[in-house]
Amino acid sequence: EKADAQMLLIFGASGDLTTRKLIPALYELYVRNLLPENFVILGAARTVLTDNEFRRKQCDGILTSQKELSAKDARLSLFLKRVYYMGFDTQNTDEYETLKNRVEELQNLYSLPDNIVFYMATPPEMYEVIPLGLQKCGLAYTSDGFRRIVVEKPFGTDIKSAKHLTRLLESIFDEHDIYRIDHYLGKETVQNILVLRFSNGIFEPLWNRNYIDHVEIVSSETLGIGNRGGYYESSGALRDMVQNHLLQLMAFIAMEPPVAFDPESIRDEIAKVFKSLHHYTPEEMQEQIVRGQYTAGTIAGESVQGYRDEKNVSGDSVRETYVAVKIELDNWRWAGTPFYIYTGKRLSEKKTEIIIHFKSTPQQLFVGQCSGSSCNQLIIRVQPNESIALRFGLKIPGSGFEVRQVSMDFLYSSLSDKKLPDAYERLLLDVMLGDSTLYSRADAQEASWNFIDPIIKNWVKRGKDGLAFYASGSDPEEIDRLMPHDKKCNCCNE
Ligand code: BG6
Repeated sequence: EKADAQMLLIFGASGDLTTRKLIPALYELYVRNLLPENFVILGAARTVLTDNEFRRKQCDGILTSQKELSAKDARLSLFLKRVYYMGFDTQNTDEYETLKNRVEELQNLYSLPDNIVFYMATPPEMYEVIPLGLQKCGLAYTSDGFRRIVVEKPFGTDIKSAKHLTRLLESIFDEHDIYRIDHYLGKETVQNILVLRFSNGIFEPLWNRNYIDHVEIVSSETLGIGNRGGYYESSGALRDMVQNHLLQLMAFIAMEPPVAFDPESIRDEIAKVFKSLHHYTPEEMQEQIVRGQYTAGTIAGESVQGYRDEKNVSGDSVRETYVAVKIELDNWRWAGTPFYIYTGKRLSEKKTEIIIHFKSTPQQLFVGQCSGSSCNQLIIRVQPNESIALRFGLKIPGSGFEVRQVSMDFLYSSLSDKKLPDAYERLLLDVMLGDSTLYSRADAQEASWNFIDPIIKNWVKRGKDGLAFYASGSDPEEIDRLMPHDKKCNCCNE
């Protein structure tokens, strides 16, 4: 399916996201013949650049993401011809008239219909200013086309600001034209959770509290916070990863089957999961949540500095770079089956995976059979080495009946030798097509903030009390207390 002819207007276009992710993804869509026949990309930001300077920068970004591509490739120059730039001060309302003129000029030049996707790749402070500017100059409206707006995370910093932002955007755009992006939903392996669950008859009968003991969602990174000290100091791992990406993954695992595969039916089910999140009592918060911060250490043989020594980070910061939470869902399907989420920076390995731990057999008949929770696991490896594995016990050949865990694996790399598409490709294409299935809805966002807010308030109250320090390259020891021993599966984690 091809999207209608349109313009993509990217705000904050001189930034990293545009060069590293958005433009390379758009180029890939162009090469795969998925962009509309007629399109224009207009970048806008405060930095003064000519069209050609902007194109050169974007060309470098594309070449970095596609090592085998040559700068002389004819398709690359054809694509870049459709890329334009305008330096303008987003804070100055008068300049929106100039922007509007530039938009109309390009629309006339290419005989484009009046369809525009606005993409907010700016710092969050601009999420209000720009839509208001677009409203004032009239660019936010059309009588014979469409307007859609994509808003990057963070969508608010708490329930109050998220609601406020939604209200403001809804006063300018229709709710179904507001696209809150969560790039995890653009990942192929994440979308496949829905297909795995709802296109196969064999998993769904087991997919509940009667057969699943617990679920783990792990997203660990080796990188520190890099140059994002300023942002991270006001965010932390809970807001940066859990409030959005990891709760969304959990929702895909926990949701009820939708009545149809359309955006609203799916997003209804996701919102229901978020509304069933069990809110902690103050005691539960202490027991079921661990927060940590990295100190100096070694990763892949290299020494790295601690969080408090990073640029733009306060020397006595209590901001968490690690969080582990035991989550309970108060609903019929999941009552009594906890979801453990772990995420952090500067850990030993970069990986995101979901492990479904099934309950064990009622009786252990064999030597070597796992005691504790069962070793029957379904492991969904989101990245890297994308795969799905099912683990179960089999007899070791020879005499006796000794059991050993084996794994039946599906590797994405065996499907095709092409690399999996980047998350932004899918999400950009969807917004151009007007499909919001993989974007999050206001009610889900708000329900997730309702769950996150009290945790943050509790941490603020406690200051550094309860903050666990971990040396870069290792996990905080405190996470051991989250999961009871009989849930741990020692025999297959050898
Ligand atoms: C971003 C966070 O949303 O996701 C980053 O702001 C994090 O801190 C990143 O590193 C992780 O994304 P991915 O796709 O590399 O797992």
